Amino acid sequence: MKNSDQLEPTVFAIFGGSGDLTSRKLVPALFDLAQDRSLPVQFAIIAVGRTKLGDSQLRQRLRDGVNRFSRFGKLKTAAWNKFAPHIHYQQGDYRKPGTYAALGARCDALERAWGTKARRIFYLATPPSLFGVIPRYLGKAGLARDREWARIVVEKPIGHDLNSALALNTVLRASFEESQIFRIDHYLGKETVQNILAFRFANPLFEPIWNRRYVDYVTITVAEAVGVEQRGENYDHAGALRDMVQNHLFQLLCLVAMEPMVSFEADEIRNKKVDVLHAVRPIHHDAVHECAVRGQYGPGRDGGTKMTGYREEDNVAPDSPTETFVALRLMIDNWRWQGVPFYLRTGKRLPRQVSEVAIQFRAVPHQSFPPDASLGWQPSRLVMSIQPDEGIVLGFQAKYPGPKMQLRPVDMRFNYRESFDAPSPDAYETLLWDVMKNDATLFMRADQVEAAWRLLTPVLDVWAATPPGDFPNYAAGSWGPESTQGLLLPGQRWPVPTELRRPKTLPKTRAGRRPSPVPVDAPKNLNRKSSR
Ligand code: BG6
Repeated sequence: MKNSDQLEPTVFAIFGGSGDLTSRKLVPALFDLAQDRSLPVQFAIIAVGRTKLGDSQLRQRLRDGVNRFSRFGKLKTAAWNKFAPHIHYQQGDYRKPGTYAALGARCDALERAWGTKARRIFYLATPPSLFGVIPRYLGKAGLARDREWARIVVEKPIGHDLNSALALNTVLRASFEESQIFRIDHYLGKETVQNILAFRFANPLFEPIWNRRYVDYVTITVAEAVGVEQRGENYDHAGALRDMVQNHLFQLLCLVAMEPMVSFEADEIRNKKVDVLHAVRPIHHDAVHECAVRGQYGPGRDGGTKMTGYREEDNVAPDSPTETFVALRLMIDNWRWQGVPFYLRTGKRLPRQVSEVAIQFRAVPHQSFPPDASLGWQPSRLVMSIQPDEGIVLGFQAKYPGPKMQLRPVDMRFNYRESFDAPSPDAYETLLWDVMKNDATLFMRADQVEAAWRLLTPVLDVWAATPPGDFPNYAAGSWGPESTQGLLLPGQRWPVPTELRRPKTLPKTRAGRRPSPVPVDAPKNLNRKSSR
């Protein structure tokens, strides 16, 4: 890792500089990097915004954000006083060339003061409607011209559908080269998401069984307990498929299903990921109802507390057809995964926040234990837990102590917090650091974004053409609509999300033994033999 003396001087220009993303995520992440001495000595943030503000007003606003969201906890005045002078504000209209000329002049002045050339990173933290506007002006102002030193960072959503994504990528590439464009999907910055690569490809143990011979099916769950919160207006035009599946869930799918990379080069990894999306069996329009389920939460209860339904949330249409839940069954047509279903589900107002990937292994080819030994038998399952717990759980069979041969499921757990004496950085910290280092591994390339939209286009089309007749179809606080069960092939099931924290020890029985735990989601066909 380079330290602050070795990093190139950097100007971080944030469009949308007076907005929410800047104060909640970007500046706290930059502040945290500064505390870790991971920012260059010559460093400036230029926040560009439409609001009339002075430097000191902006700094006060950003101070509050850092105080609330920095991973270093309550802000120390000395640390802030050292950081704050790096922040400047520039008011300007995003559709006026003068704004960009002024920004360029400011960058030039900083470079003159530092006596050296600086990296110029342009971060679009604006509403998506400006994503197609700002890059054009940056290009016209000559600010994108230096292929080595100028970079642009774009947040999701990259388009609203395939055509708008193609159009946006065209605009970006009219001014910047692909190597200068960093498309953020913040899921890729999460430690446990990156750990999927380490787990799969740094351990020779798992790769040989990571295929259709041993894996029965895979589930990817990204569940949120929160509702739509204050984002009703934007969310109501998006829905869960666009908001979560096209990006975050597909990133997880790619990392779980990709072939081993030859090297750790950004494009090598991105090639392998995009290969997965190209191998996903296209969903035909007339098969959408067989492989996709949508849902919308209605009112519900969390203990004694009443939770509002989606249609009663602020800025949501009272007859909104927008989905807040999606489940999909996808098949990957390649040698490794032929015949293995990948089930994806995500939703708001589910019982708890949990993101995990569960690899359900197949049954043993021949069950040689006597039937009463294997009553609680479950095939092995590996769960990669992304949040809120971070770690890996391997469930397998063990002999229950005693004279009789009895098999019981047990877990082996790896927990990040217990194993490493180091806090996980926020995803934005990792991603901003990578932009500065010019490492595009964790960013979405144009072709991946487009492949993801292409896959989902039939689902978007069919759902738009057939408004849901049954919304709301799940109660807030439940695991989504009943119809998600219909996606599963016989003998398969949605897993009960894993708790990484060790379950409380069971009380001893009178005989001094602990009762064997009853598996909560044991498959019904316990002795099902492998059919492949
Ligand atoms: C965002 C979505 O990309 O991810 C939100 O727009 C969602 O709707 C959020 O709540 C979830 O991110 P995380 O990191 O909290 O799992």
